[in-house]
Amino acid sequence: MSAVSPGLPWLPCVVFLLHACHANPGVKLPPGFMDSLPMPHQGPHPSYYISTTYPLSCEGFTMRGGLESEKLPWSQARQSFRDFVAQKGNWDEVSKYAWDLSSCWCSCGSCETSLRVCPVGTMTALNMMLVSKSMSSASRMASFINQKSTCSHLDPYALILRLPPWSELILTGWPTFGVMHLVAVTLRADGLMERHLDDIFAAQLALHSQGPTWRRDRASNFCELLGYRPDSCPLRLASELVWQAVAVADMADASVSSVTDAAQALVRRAQEMVLGLLPRVPGISECMQAQNLFLGISMSSNGLKLLDGLHQLQRKLENWLLVPQKKPGAVVNASQICPVGDARWQGEWLMETDFLKDFQAELDSFPAPKSTTPVVSHEKREAWVCTLFAGPELPWAQIALHAEVVRTLAFSIRRKSKQQRPFVVLTQATIPEDIRRELLADGLRLEYFHAPSLVMKVPRDYEWKLSWFRGRNLVPTMGQLAVWNLSSYDTLVMLDDDMLMVDSADELFSVPVFAMSHDPLPLWSPDDATKMASKQTRLNNAARVVHPNKRFFQHLVRRIQSGDFKDDPLINFWGYDLQSLEDAFWNQYGPRKGVTNFVAGKFSGCAKSPPGIATLPQQVAFRTGQWRPDAALVEANVTDPTHCVLPADYNFFVDFKSVFSMVYYGVVPEDLKTLNIRSLMKRLVVFLYRSGSLTGSPKILHWPGSMRKPWERLHERLRSGWDQLWWEAHEAMCKESPAACRISCD
Ligand SMILES: *[C@@H]1O[C@H](CO)[C@@H](O)[C@H](O)[C@H]1NC(C)=O
Ligand SMILES: *[C@@H]1O[C@H](CO)[C@@H](O)[C@H](O)[C@H]1NC(C)=O
Ligand SMILES: *[C@@H]1O[C@H](CO)[C@@H](O)[C@H](O)[C@H]1NC(C)=O
Repeated sequence: MSAVSPGLPWLPCVVFLLHACHANPGVKLPPGFMDSLPMPHQGPHPSYYISTTYPLSCEGFTMRGGLESEKLPWSQARQSFRDFVAQKGNWDEVSKYAWDLSSCWCSCGSCETSLRVCPVGTMTALNMMLVSKSMSSASRMASFINQKSTCSHLDPYALILRLPPWSELILTGWPTFGVMHLVAVTLRADGLMERHLDDIFAAQLALHSQGPTWRRDRASNFCELLGYRPDSCPLRLASELVWQAVAVADMADASVSSVTDAAQALVRRAQEMVLGLLPRVPGISECMQAQNLFLGISMSSNGLKLLDGLHQLQRKLENWLLVPQKKPGAVVNASQICPVGDARWQGEWLMETDFLKDFQAELDSFPAPKSTTPVVSHEKREAWVCTLFAGPELPWAQIALHAEVVRTLAFSIRRKSKQQRPFVVLTQATIPEDIRRELLADGLRLEYFHAPSLVMKVPRDYEWKLSWFRGRNLVPTMGQLAVWNLSSYDTLVMLDDDMLMVDSADELFSVPVFAMSHDPLPLWSPDDATKMASKQTRLNNAARVVHPNKRFFQHLVRRIQSGDFKDDPLINFWGYDLQSLEDAFWNQYGPRKGVTNFVAGKFSGCAKSPPGIATLPQQVAFRTGQWRPDAALVEANVTDPTHCVLPADYNFFVDFKSVFSMVYYGVVPEDLKTLNIRSLMKRLVVFLYRSGSLTGSPKILHWPGSMRKPWERLHERLRSGWDQLWWEAHEAMCKESPAACRISCD
């Protein structure tokens, strides 16, 4: 410590006089973990999505995934931090949350899971700790002035180099930059000044005889210390860029899309300039250089302006992209439904939107096989069907929302089909009268199922496996199965409401056997299900071709209600939900063939081998690009217990979570060294066609999962091309329909 200069008389007293829990340099993350953290939209890292918490907002999905850090009070802490930087916070509460969320810092929690569950929140909390009640100015400065030259990768300032780019951070609801600004202001109040930097760097490097030495030139300015003249200081330029972005954001008449794009571009450039300084910053490791860089930023007036600008920009952007929460007890406007749910921090979804746009570009550039024009069928009693739950336990607004979504689907079918067929809404007698009349006004037919006799019987001790229903506030009712009960029709094609037809699919009515859509990713755990996985494709019950039969309906319901499938590997793996129960039933009922095939628009048999990525050998073949399915076809007819699988053309997943999982399926670390994200996307497209999952361009799109419905993307900039198609269909439907449309937000 003898190297401490007289310019810093207080320094020796503060070093490690810590009473607060200090960043623990010994915290170890698995090898490569820090390298995996950056999440630009082109490559969010797969490990984030093992958690069910959305990583940019820390909002949970329907259910918690069971990771330790998912139980931390993320949402409450975020609110508290936001209030705090808006100067209306409760100091005790902020300190408590900062302490709770940063527990891993002092090795009393797991940093690995905290960073997986909510990297942005973790970083904000660590910054918050620095200014919280439990941190004295002595310990704060000790954290900043790295005397030991050891460096924790969890230091909030080292972390910012690893986390999502600033251009994405400014769209989140975590006040990251506001807190960083606050830390800088607090350090200055503690007495730290820009002119101390020279001494600090010299003292640090003097501790390391093998390391570089710091040639002191008595410069008083951070930029000058790094060798820049004041007029060409990158920090000044970066700060100007950010303030330009603030000015752009202030232009009242600009559209949200062009402003976010322009602001993001300016911030991206500013970040490049700042990070370009890193190699010149003194330090014996990159981690320490990063700490010193942010120390310099915090101390210099340009740096402080930069942090303030980013904070102001974030506040402006989030104000546009945030859907305000209705106050409890607010009057519900029955002519308006704002369906945004937990996705109200709209800016946070931009990263996913851009990922989907890239994937769509790859898909569209692939020369897909042409599909043939369907043959018109005659005199058959055929219809499209969609289920609308309308039980008395459901709020009116939820039923009304889904009714409008069903009408949009029906409209898309009407618009694209070569042959017009009735559209049946399979619902409950308790449907509110106004909604019933609106569906009829749109030309839809109504059929009813008797919900009480379709309430799912769950074997004792299996209730915990009901996750699908619990997350959706539904009594587990198997309403969809009642499609088999509609025996006044010969052939029905049933779709989920979160789907959209983008090309005619009349040919489905020529399929003579039961056929159901599939999941191109079975995601079997190889240990417990290798045998089945080698033969079967996992069904996904979003789309199906049904030949109704009351006796079969009773048989199906009886079998499923018997509880016989409770220990089926499918149920063990996926939970006690209807989709897995149906899958298990059909597995036992008859042979499962591959995808349906159509020649000249008419059914011509099903492929022999299953589509999708099912077996381990296939996964290896997938990686090496060698897998080709056996496409030999078999005949099938109505009396046959055989069932077939519908290709992904009729159930094409266009939500981020599904596309993301498929893109990263089977990816091993070596792949990431040679393939960029666009190559991975291209590889997936090729594979979807080669494996037989996809046979032509997608005809029916599907948005499964929560928080990823197209109607939850209110701003155009947040919509993928597919989301936009949904909105266009919705708008066209509303223009034509005599009934009310309610989806809108103030
Ligand atoms: C309810 O919302 C509709 C559509 O946005 C609007 O036209 C109407 O004025 C609103 N009514 C009330 C009472 O706020
Ligand atoms: C099946 O249809 C009949 C009418 O054909 C109806 O009475 C019965 O309630 C339906 N069953 C269920 C479970 O919906
Ligand atoms: C229908 O399939 C069954 C079983 O494969 C077969 O025995 C029967 O001949 C087929 N009927 C027709 C009309 O093709």
